[in-house]
Amino acid sequence: MKLNKTLLMFSLLTATSATNAGQVEVLHWWTSGGEAKALNALKDMLEEQGHDWKDFAVAGGGGESAMTVLKTRAVSGNPPSAAQIVGHDIQEWGGLGFLTNLDDVAKQGGWEQVVPPMVTDIMKFNDGYVAVPVNVHRVNWLWANPRAFEKAEAKVPTTLEEFFIAGDKLKAAGIIPLAHGGQPWQDATVFEAVALEVLGSEDYLKAFVELDMDVLSGEKMVEVFTQFKKMRNYIDANSPGRDWNVATTMVINGDAAMQIMGDWAKGEFSAAGKVAGKDYICVPAPGTSGQFTHNVDSFAFFELSDEKSKKAQKALAATILDPKFQEVFNLNKGSIPVRLDMDMSKFDTCALDSMADFKSTAKTGDLVPSMAHGMATTSYAQGAIFDVVTHFFNDKNADPKQAAKKLAKAVKAAI
Ligand code: GAL
Repeated sequence: MKLNKTLLMFSLLTATSATNAGQVEVLHWWTSGGEAKALNALKDMLEEQGHDWKDFAVAGGGGESAMTVLKTRAVSGNPPSAAQIVGHDIQEWGGLGFLTNLDDVAKQGGWEQVVPPMVTDIMKFNDGYVAVPVNVHRVNWLWANPRAFEKAEAKVPTTLEEFFIAGDKLKAAGIIPLAHGGQPWQDATVFEAVALEVLGSEDYLKAFVELDMDVLSGEKMVEVFTQFKKMRNYIDANSPGRDWNVATTMVINGDAAMQIMGDWAKGEFSAAGKVAGKDYICVPAPGTSGQFTHNVDSFAFFELSDEKSKKAQKALAATILDPKFQEVFNLNKGSIPVRLDMDMSKFDTCALDSMADFKSTAKTGDLVPSMAHGMATTSYAQGAIFDVVTHFFNDKNADPKQAAKKLAKAVKAAI
């Protein structure tokens, strides 16, 4: 009798939560080991609240394929609840009228008090929240395997000059100096790290944010292409088409000594059980200490009509900025929390350095948006830059002077 009563109560309870439960369909490109582990925390926390998670993963670092699939879905009138959309693209989607307003969730969660305005500005369209920030990635990192450096008797480089010296020693020791994946966004990631060093923060901003034709075609840009071209000599012949996480695994295993990549690479080291400062080393990309290229991941939310789905959607938005989620997600993703009021005691030295530099570079003008990850300019200008950079990098006879001219021309035609 007693048992029956308990069973009845249980089924009543589950029936109520099932009535309130909604489903969120979430489009993203987080399919590598570290990325998937990080995103699973969001799925788990949403399911704990009784909602269903429908995964819509489109593989491909940098998200180019994901964006193509998203366009098809949205245009056919069937968008997901939320999609990983970053930087300038948020404005483009907002302008098309697809996104929903999240101001009530933002107010309830006190987002304005804990997230820096530089980030909240990106999340708003017409002054209202349409997207939620997940993290802050630093892009200008160099990841190094200390054992490879010991074997080659080389020093982890802090300047471009030192990079080429170390590269020669590593090559002589039979180690691939730079693990690289030959895909346009990865070429652009290395290119912007070189550009940050050679141009300096001010001209970097002029080139990739203001799209200043004089800087894009100027002497310093010729030097950027010259240094970028030298990097080719330190990459193995199998790099074309290689995924970024496969390149990271080469550094983890010691087949390669270094990778220039954002700190999502750290997510791979962590997923492989490696410890920062012991099994691998993180330093700013050559010549860029005291500078910070940022990439803020975010989810934009689509206008839906079903009430239950709307409820689930709001729960998702609120969960993303929940301190508990911010901690577990960012520990696995390699990034730092986007909330500035977090307890950082569980984070490693790379994350602590990143947080310190994120705060200090905001004051010196050395915090710059990543061109390669859609934070600096529109997808049109970015696409034009990608084309020139990738063609240049794949043509061993390419001329840096011509490339700088082409860069300015291509950007001009795209805007
Ligand atoms: C970036 C994204 C990162 C990381 C990377 C590789 O565009 O912002 O979070 O996942 O792609 O997939």
